[in-house]
Amino acid sequence: MRWISNAVVLAATVMMVQAQGYSCDGNACQLAHNCLCASKNPPAGLNPKETPQFVVVTFDDSVQDSLMATAKKMLNVTNPNGCKAKGTWYVSMEYTDFSLVQQWYVDGHEVADHTFSHVGNPPSEEIAAAKSMLHTYAGIPNNKIVGFRAPFLNYSQDTFKHLSEQQFTYDSSASAVGDDDLYWPYTLDYGLANLNDATGGSSASVRIPGLWEFPMYSVANNAGIPQLMDVYLAGPPSDVKSWSLTTFDKHYNGSRQPFGIYVHPTHLTPNAAADPAAQLNGMLELIKTIAEKPDVWFVTNYQLLQWMKNPVKVSELGKQAYMKCQQPTIPQEICNGLDDDSNGTPDDNLLNNCNFGTTNFKTCFNCPATAPSPSNPTPNPSTQNGSAGYRYPVPDTCDTVWWDPVGNKCLCDLSSNSCPYKDLATVSPGGKSSDASNLVHFSVSHLGLSMILVALVTLY
Ligand SMILES: *[C@@H]1O[C@H](CO)[C@@H](O)[C@H](O)[C@H]1NC(C)=O
Ligand SMILES: *[C@@H]1O[C@H](CO)[C@@H](O)[C@H](O)[C@H]1NC(C)=O
Ligand SMILES: *[C@@H]1O[C@H](CO)[C@@H](O)[C@H](O)[C@H]1NC(C)=O
Ligand SMILES: *[C@@H]1O[C@H](CO)[C@@H](O)[C@H](O)[C@H]1NC(C)=O
Repeated sequence: MRWISNAVVLAATVMMVQAQGYSCDGNACQLAHNCLCASKNPPAGLNPKETPQFVVVTFDDSVQDSLMATAKKMLNVTNPNGCKAKGTWYVSMEYTDFSLVQQWYVDGHEVADHTFSHVGNPPSEEIAAAKSMLHTYAGIPNNKIVGFRAPFLNYSQDTFKHLSEQQFTYDSSASAVGDDDLYWPYTLDYGLANLNDATGGSSASVRIPGLWEFPMYSVANNAGIPQLMDVYLAGPPSDVKSWSLTTFDKHYNGSRQPFGIYVHPTHLTPNAAADPAAQLNGMLELIKTIAEKPDVWFVTNYQLLQWMKNPVKVSELGKQAYMKCQQPTIPQEICNGLDDDSNGTPDDNLLNNCNFGTTNFKTCFNCPATAPSPSNPTPNPSTQNGSAGYRYPVPDTCDTVWWDPVGNKCLCDLSSNSCPYKDLATVSPGGKSSDASNLVHFSVSHLGLSMILVALVTLY
């Protein structure tokens, strides 16, 4: 099938090359000024036992129906606050269905940039083209497209410069390989601290104030060889699970650096050539096992960024606004990526179909009159402003979920602070806090609260 040509089989094994001469002055570099030195310890002096164990599950390349179904299966676990696990998708433009990108975003997941045509060491134009298409055809606010990953993890100093010029907040292309390299995310004010992977550029002089690096964390196989992306391709599912759990425990029992699961979903999605059910089930078992441990939170890199900027103890994490899961209450179906009328289909009969070779896609917005390209990613629309069928872009004053692009209306004034939301957090009494040692420490007020919550669950 043609879309498979977009898949990337990345060599799972990475080489170790020491980045030379990283040195960061912790007195000059402070979180209050959006600077953080690379460190193996949690930020803000937090004790590891009080630090959340973050797990980031990321997906790369095009967004398509079958691939998104795989991604959703992999995030079918619950965080300690009752919200569903969230993940990040680094989206390349070819073969991508933008209506699905919008659905992914409004479900609380992150949409990030992976270039237009999936090229290594990408020119500035390739990065900018993807960002403007994600905004124009998926309605993602520009200030929510903050992350980038280089295709083939092939980045250079220029990549970081492009990202900074284009107001990105973080890159996640560098790899953390082995014990000496287990840095928490940090800013590039003093350059790159991570050992460089084989495809990366030279790191010594890259200094980009305020741009964050979210290293990708490897898993060691039983020969001690680090595996980075698509670990499930490196061995039988049971071995992959056991290597992954051993590495996870090292983070969890140690300094609680985030743990990563980095996926090209095409490898785990059945197609004409293969049915990777065994690999997928192995990964689902791994994810379930990890999710059952106390203090584990499955987050987007964007959520992790909010925490990095203002670290709080794990006991406080559930209260943070960025960890909530809420859906707007909108009684009629509008084209916003949600199933507003709860009939099982988002955006029913409201999507436009745009057909251009490798850029066939559906969208809530206008189709372009000609095929998008890296130099002209958002050509003039095929429908003119004022004529029937024109779709209005999301203005900066509204948000994707509240915007009706057909009616040219924002259905809630966000500044009013009174938009109606339904809380999607479900309380699972048998979930995270069933750990015996946690129960012993349950205070009376906690018990009171959980009784109320149990009562609510019964009501629904
Ligand atoms: C999620 O898990 C539940 C039960 O654990 C299952 O019923 C449901 O089909 C799963 N959904 C997906 C998308 O895998
Ligand atoms: C990185 O990408 C560039 C541009 O596509 C290519 O010329 C170069 O060979 C790639 N480097 C590696 C190490 O793959
Ligand atoms: C982590 O700690 C658990 C018990 O808390 C223990 O069973 C496990 O062996 C430890 N793993 C590592 C890699 O230290
Ligand atoms: C559409 O046209 C109206 C009236 O000319 C104008 O006010 C509005 O800004 C235009 N909107 C867009 C999205 O071009």
